[in-house]
Amino acid sequence: MIGVGAFGRNHARVYQQLAQEGEAVRLAGVVDSDLPRADVVAKEFGCRSFGSIQQLTTTHSEIQAASIAVPTIQHLEVSSALMEAGIDVLIEKPVAASLAEAEELIAMAQRLGRIAQVGHLERFNPAVRATVPLVTQPMFFEVHRLSVFSPRSLDVDVVLDLMIHDLDVVLSFVNAPVKEIRAVGLPILSGKVDIANVRMEFDSGCVANFTASRVSTERVRKLRFFQPRQYISLDYSRQDVLAFSIGGEGEASGMPSVNPQIKVSKPPVTAEEPLHAELKAFLASVRRRSKPLVSLEDGRRALAVALDIVAAIREHGKKVKLDRLGAMG
Ligand SMILES: NC(=O)c1ccc[n+]([C@@H]2O[C@H](COP(=O)([O-])OP(=O)(O)OC[C@H]3O[C@@H](n4cnc5c(N)ncnc54)[C@H](O)[C@@H]3O)[C@@H](O)[C@H]2O)c1
Repeated sequence: MIGVGAFGRNHARVYQQLAQEGEAVRLAGVVDSDLPRADVVAKEFGCRSFGSIQQLTTTHSEIQAASIAVPTIQHLEVSSALMEAGIDVLIEKPVAASLAEAEELIAMAQRLGRIAQVGHLERFNPAVRATVPLVTQPMFFEVHRLSVFSPRSLDVDVVLDLMIHDLDVVLSFVNAPVKEIRAVGLPILSGKVDIANVRMEFDSGCVANFTASRVSTERVRKLRFFQPRQYISLDYSRQDVLAFSIGGEGEASGMPSVNPQIKVSKPPVTAEEPLHAELKAFLASVRRRSKPLVSLEDGRRALAVALDIVAAIREHGKKVKLDRLGAMG
């Protein structure tokens, strides 16, 4: 595990948990340029600590796979060192700091024949996995990801920090190019955009509205969408899905419905920590040499849209003269 700050510690915890559950994995060590930090996490999860990747790879030539949760700006450098050393990688989201860097990673993984997955963990949320088979022709999305303020990840704006999770999920559901983006965003408590609203139109005619905030008084993580004769509501936090269908087969669920024509169904969802499912899937891809569910190309696609949104927010800020008030981060 490379980088055991706020989020990387969770990877170390889950790898250790997977080993305890009998998964064929062993957490060999944690690496952090802040060695005392690595020491604390290594002690907690019963593995060795290292201050650099080189130290790890010279001591442990058997390492086959690594998760990377260093700051995004370092993803390329750290991932390159690992891939060059013959190690498969799971790179936290956003995949890289720029599209050029993301493309470099794609080319490098191809050249070296490495498995590389991106940490868009909501794709492994059991509620999202239960929704995938229900997606037919989504035409309208309403997505909310609101969280209370905490002094973490303030070096990036809310689009790259939080909204990118939903962008990746919606892009995987819609499967059509993005045609137009309109966006507004404001810094509230940090120097970067803390709250953003986006209206996105796809070539398929689908429209998606996204709201992301890290200055909310409540915690909401919901994705709702409409498609012909169907409305689907997904709650990421509660890990549940409700599907309202008009006519057709629909699953009888015994749930109350306001209109007898509307069938309400609740697809079965088995609760699981998304990170647990994500790391298990990564290990399976490494073993089978199969393309990960969330590939580098998916990471690049979500990053490209996120950067377009950031540009649209800046453009809008200029138009309404928010930049002159020093309010655009
Ligand atoms: N998937 C998610 O939901 C999610 C949530 C939070 C963060 N993240 C991502 O995880 C990454 C890390 O975020 P964080 O909040 O944990 O950051 P953090 O600053 O808390 O932790 C980063 C750690 O990396 C270490 N580090 C820096 N450069 C290093 C290097 N070259 N080699 C080894 N260690 C190095 C730092 O000392 C620090 O301990 C970011 O890319 C972030 O976007 C993902």
